[in-house]
Amino acid sequence: HKMLKPFPKDFLWGASTAAFQVEGAWDEDGKGLSIMDEQELAAGVADFKVAVDHYHRYREDIALFAEMGLKAYRFSISWARIFPKGNDPEPNEKGLQHYDAVIDECLKYGIEPIVTIFHFEMPAALIKEYGGWASRQSIEDFDRYSRVLFKRYGDRVRYWLTINEGNIRIAFGDHLLGGKIKDDKQRFQMGHHMTLAQAKAMVSCHELLPQAKIGSAPSNTIIYPASSNPEDVLAARDYDLLRSGLTLDPLYKGYYPKALWSFWEERGIAPDMEAGDLELFKKARPDFLAFNYYGGHTVRYYPETAELYTVPADVAARYNVSQSYIRKISREKQAGIAQEVVNPHIRQGEFRIIDPVGLRATLRDLYEKYNVPLIITENGCAAAEEFTADGKIHDTYRIEYLREHIRQCQIAINEGVELFGYCPWTAIDVVSVKEGIGKRYGFIYVNRTDTDLRDLKRYRKDSFYWYKQVIESNGENL
Ligand code: BG6
Repeated sequence: HKMLKPFPKDFLWGASTAAFQVEGAWDEDGKGLSIMDEQELAAGVADFKVAVDHYHRYREDIALFAEMGLKAYRFSISWARIFPKGNDPEPNEKGLQHYDAVIDECLKYGIEPIVTIFHFEMPAALIKEYGGWASRQSIEDFDRYSRVLFKRYGDRVRYWLTINEGNIRIAFGDHLLGGKIKDDKQRFQMGHHMTLAQAKAMVSCHELLPQAKIGSAPSNTIIYPASSNPEDVLAARDYDLLRSGLTLDPLYKGYYPKALWSFWEERGIAPDMEAGDLELFKKARPDFLAFNYYGGHTVRYYPETAELYTVPADVAARYNVSQSYIRKISREKQAGIAQEVVNPHIRQGEFRIIDPVGLRATLRDLYEKYNVPLIITENGCAAAEEFTADGKIHDTYRIEYLREHIRQCQIAINEGVELFGYCPWTAIDVVSVKEGIGKRYGFIYVNRTDTDLRDLKRYRKDSFYWYKQVIESNGENL
């Protein structure tokens, strides 16, 4: 790879977290509850009450990020810290002040804050009040919340992400979407509202902050056909529409894909549209696309089922997705479209598959489809970790994983993709969505277990020093 062009000069080498997974302080300074505070977890698995106590230790943490050389820190704001009930008459000043401090701390070191407005944390009160995304009122409330953030932080934050992995929440119809989902019709209706909410926030952002840039933050991957059978090739495309096209096409092209709309119509599950919805999509005009990447999915044509698509347990396990996440709610007497299968060409890591070339394929695919600059906002290697006898964390597997993915990014850039940043998951150990702290992703180790908070002290892993020199050399020393 000697001949590869280097990474762009101002490439945003960063790392990511999400509020509920790091902050803790779950009921401090006026914070309301979110659906993550109410998530049911298996016994003995860490919840989010303390997490890694970033709410109190952000200064120390950001100093470590600066030492590592991070150019960007992607974090999320907890809606229920700003509006404890989601739509209170006034925002909670203490909550606003907290993120003022986090942003200022980043800027002190020249770290670009990349702010996710919504990362799974629907305020619990809005589920009670109107079923969360099930109601069109969620569009207005999300916009109001977003506008408060734009006004408060817009002088310092240039990069905004609307919703994290909205596409997957809709595709799976899982509990992270929030609220009760009766059937497929309602699931896609919720998705429609969520996508409209993003479009509306994009319009507001451009109106209030003409210099800022805003994009959506889906989880994305190339979809491989299981074989060269033309039916499998089409199934892979159809599945892509159901996982990605359903939110990205409206936001980035201004309309729902025709094929997607026809699957929905055939089954009587197309979302109800109101006058102005399509116009709002057309006005969204996002500036870039951020995406999370954890490995390519593979599907075959599979009409022998009433479900729109199926993800068998053995396949879900390869992506470390619990079957209980995937609600099978389609009960129409209609043929299915696709089924995920195991791809024999892709390696299996400790928790998930490892598919670096798929990242390059995904970059190429997204750039061709949507023609906007791209940034990777999650990609990373999970492991159960404990100190070795020398008191260190020798995470060579993580270094190896990131090295291969970064190399593919560089090749993609050489192939013409406009990629402006890479923010692996995670900057510091976080509590995973449902498997606690036994599953770590960070460059920085946090000394706690699922059941014992220990001293929560921070330790630099081997990957910390490795990433530091990657950043120093702008990706040349991998
Ligand atoms: C992404 C989420 O889906 O995957 C993160 O945006 C999450 O919040 C990450 O932590 C890894 O998944 P998990 O289940 O290992 O926490």
